[in-house]
Parts: sequence; C-alpha cells; structure tokens
Amino acid sequence: MAVIFSGIQPSGTITIGNYLGALKHFVNYQEEDECYFCVVNQHAITVHQDPAELKQNSKKLAALYLACGISSEKSTLFIQSEVPAHTKLGWMLQCVTYIGELERMTQYKDKSKGKEAVSSGLLTYPPLMAADILLYGTDFVPVGDDQKQHIELTRDIAERFNKKYREIFTVPEPHIAKEGARIMSLVDPTKKMSKSDENINSFISMLDDEKTIMKKIKRATTDSDGIVAYDKENKPGISNLLTIYSLCSGESIEELVVKYEGKGYGDFKEGTANAIISVLKPIQERYEAFINSPELDTILDHGAMKAERKANKMLNKAERAMGLARKRI
Ligand code: TYM
Repeated sequence: MAVIFSGIQPSGTITIGNYLGALKHFVNYQEEDECYFCVVNQHAITVHQDPAELKQNSKKLAALYLACGISSEKSTLFIQSEVPAHTKLGWMLQCVTYIGELERMTQYKDKSKGKEAVSSGLLTYPPLMAADILLYGTDFVPVGDDQKQHIELTRDIAERFNKKYREIFTVPEPHIAKEGARIMSLVDPTKKMSKSDENINSFISMLDDEKTIMKKIKRATTDSDGIVAYDKENKPGISNLLTIYSLCSGESIEELVVKYEGKGYGDFKEGTANAIISVLKPIQERYEAFINSPELDTILDHGAMKAERKANKMLNKAERAMGLARKRI
C-alpha cells in the first residue's frame, strides 16, 4: 500500500483545469492506497486573500473534494492550518533549502513578476509544500504539470535532510497524468488555466452554471481556419478544447476530429460545452448537499485529527534528528 498526498489551494473556486489535471485522479487511489488530501489554506495566503472569502473558499473546496468522489472513510481530508505540524516542519525545511533554489521556481517568478511588494511567503512556499508531502511518508504525489518543479525540489530537500541528519524521509515521486496535466486558458491558450486569473472568461469554474459554461466556451479563443484538428503549436485554442472535450466525454481526440470533420467551430464548441456540463452537473448537485450539511465540519474535524496523529510522528522524528527535541517522546 502506497501513501498518496496532494493539496489544492483555496484561492478561488477550483477550475476544470484543477479537476482534469489533478482532483479527478485522486479518487482512483482510494481503494488501494493510504490517501491524504488537503485544503492548503496556508499556501493561499502567500498572496493576499480576503479573510471571509478564504474561510468560505476553504469549505467550498472541501465540499468539492467530496463531491468529486473523495470518500471521508477511505481518505483523510483536512485543512492545512488545522494541523500545525505542517508549518513547524516547513520552517525546519526552510533551513535546509537554499535561496537560489527558491528564486529559480517558475511559480515564484510568475507570481512576483511586475509586483512592487512580494511577500516572503511566496518565496518560501516550496519548503512548506515539501513539509506537506514529507510529513506523511508520501510515495506518490498526483499533480498537474505545473507542480513538477516543486516536487523535484521536495525530493532534493528530502535527500539533503536524510544525508545531513538522519534517513527519515521517503523521497516522493510525482504522478502526472498523460492527458490534461496542463489545461490552458480559454482566453489565451498559450497560458495555463488558473483559478486566480483576473479574467473570469479564461476558466470554467467547477461551480459555473450551464449558461455560463456555454457562454465561456462559445467565446473561447480559437483560430480562423475552421478545421477541428489537434495541433498544439498552430491551433492551441482548438487543441485545448479537444483535450477538455475528450477527457469529459471519454471519446478519444481522434474520434472527435472525425466527428467534427466538415462542421464549423460553432457545433464543436457546443459539443465541448455539453460534455463539460455532463461532468459538472452531478458534481454540483453533490456539492450542494455537502456545503449545506453539518456533516462537512464533522468530516474536517475528524480528518484533521487523523492527519495530525500521523504528521506528529514524523515531526517528532525530524525534531529529534535536528536536535530540537529535549526529550524523547
Ligand atoms: P494549485 O492549487 O494551483 O492546483 C491544484 C492542482 O491542480 C493542478 N492544476 C492544473 N492541472 C491541469 N491544468 C491546469 N491548468 C492546472 N492548474 C492547476 C495543479 O498542478 C495541482 O496539482 N502548490 C500546489 C498546492 C500544494 C500541493 C502540496 C500539491 C501545496 N502543497 C503538496 C501537492 C502536494 C498548488 O499551488 O496547486
């Protein structure tokens, strides 16, 4: 049985990109593996969040995890700030991470670009992420393509700690899906779809209604040659929609290309939107039941307790290895 850990930031409502690249796959591990899924609210505050919205978004994300099929019995679902071991180990790992390594991170460069005031948390984000993963003895981390660099740094940090102090951390591996690991923006298909994009037309939120989904897909940037074909270089917009359509409908990209041969983009976009709606509608119905139920708090309380029990064991080991523990517990 392998240990699986993954996290999603509650920095807005998650998008179909988060779902197709990550969340959809989490469910598959639950039968066989020991799974930890986290609402990483302490990562979200590396850029300003409205406090009331952050609180609401954290609960919404937990309800979406459940609505997408995460089982509170099979997996441990919890909120990062409710398990203090994460920030404690995060600090310790900051002390074995070099500034040069942090400055090289693409996410840091993207999020700090052109900003006058950049929080130091944005720079020191990866050791906290490493702590999330390493606390649980994680073997595999299912993530989208954009997180690969962070997992590689996590591996380096784990190996460095193991060598410098004591061999306590499992060196984790990323699991990145072959298809859908980088869903692109609907407005600029050369850019990743992101829940924190200022332009709401650039993403499909998991909670968008049918009309909004149809409108956003109909508006999506394509090209003018009118041929439905997969060509990432020359037709990034259509290729992105083909990927989304294929993952939502279960039809292969080749089948879709044949289906829309000789038809215009209008038909193709309507088909894409309908495929998305058919995936999101049942999720949204389950979401409504979870977000309005007192059960959600019970699940999160229980999840935090379970996660804490496991995380504290590793934190203790790390503190002993570094000489921070006065007594042996
Ligand atoms: P976040 O919140 O940006 O994204 C959550 C997950 O969704 C994936 N993803 C995408 N996949 C495909 N297409 C996209 N356009 C797209 N956008 C996002 C991400 O790769 C991710 O898997 N640093 C992480 C959160 C985190 C974490 C962790 C993840 C904190 N600690 C420990 C794994 C393990 C992040 O910002 O994800």
